Amino acid sequence: MTDVLIDVQNVTRVYTMGARTLYALRDVSAQVARGEFVAVVGPSGSGKSTLLNLIGGIDKPTNGQVWVDGARIDTLSENALAKWRRNHIGIVFQFFQLLPTLTALENVTLPLELRGDPARGRRARAVAMLERVGLGARLTQLPSELSGGEQQRVALARALVNDPPILLADEPTGNLDSANAEGIIALLRELADAGKTIVLITHEANLARAAHRTLAMRDGEIARAPNF
Ligand SMILES: Nc1ncnc2c1ncn2[C@@H]1O[C@H](COP(=O)(O)OP(=O)(O)OP(=O)(O)O)[C@@H](O)[C@H]1O
Ligand SMILES: [Mg+2]
Repeated sequence: MTDVLIDVQNVTRVYTMGARTLYALRDVSAQVARGEFVAVVGPSGSGKSTLLNLIGGIDKPTNGQVWVDGARIDTLSENALAKWRRNHIGIVFQFFQLLPTLTALENVTLPLELRGDPARGRRARAVAMLERVGLGARLTQLPSELSGGEQQRVALARALVNDPPILLADEPTGNLDSANAEGIIALLRELADAGKTIVLITHEANLARAAHRTLAMRDGEIARAPNF
């Protein structure tokens, strides 16, 4: 593979709880090419979210290295990581992590503010992104006033509003009915066609089929060789 964008090298992530040691990831190596759309699949507890969080710089490995776009990120400070994420990555978390006191629109506008976009234009951009995920009529609602599927779509809009080159998404259709899931799958396909690199976790065959490649995990390891 020529243009490696994400390079996870011999990564182990251990959780220690008292005397117990749990290997969430065990010597995992994986690469994702620029522009690739990869679906990560595997049973509950197999390490999917752990892997995604390491790629997104949300968590750090116990051993091994994580490289993204030629930069080693697992050794960066929290501050440097926060800045790095702003320009490189959009993340949709498994449990959304929307800010509860901000409206849908404010949640989606926040990444633009953090990046220092001029006030003029921020709102229009955030509204357009919310419209794209079908939430044009929910702008002023708080997360607590939205359904699970609506919150999930706000989280996707927030992850995409900066137009990051990489999208990481943890079960982005997990709370959607089939019509809305189809809409999101179509959006993800469109983004992949436009060259965005996408790594997403899913249990859903429809979504896995939309990806270029599937990476299967089991018990903290890659279950079968990537087929590129
Ligand atoms: N903060 C933590 N402390 C201790 N153990 C953890 C922690 N986070 C994850 N684990 C453990 O690491 C393993 C992998 O968890 P992970 O969340 O990556 O699984 P997953 O594949 O995303 O599962 P699911 O499909 O249920 O979301 C699990 O056994 C989990 O219990
Ligand atoms: Mg998970």
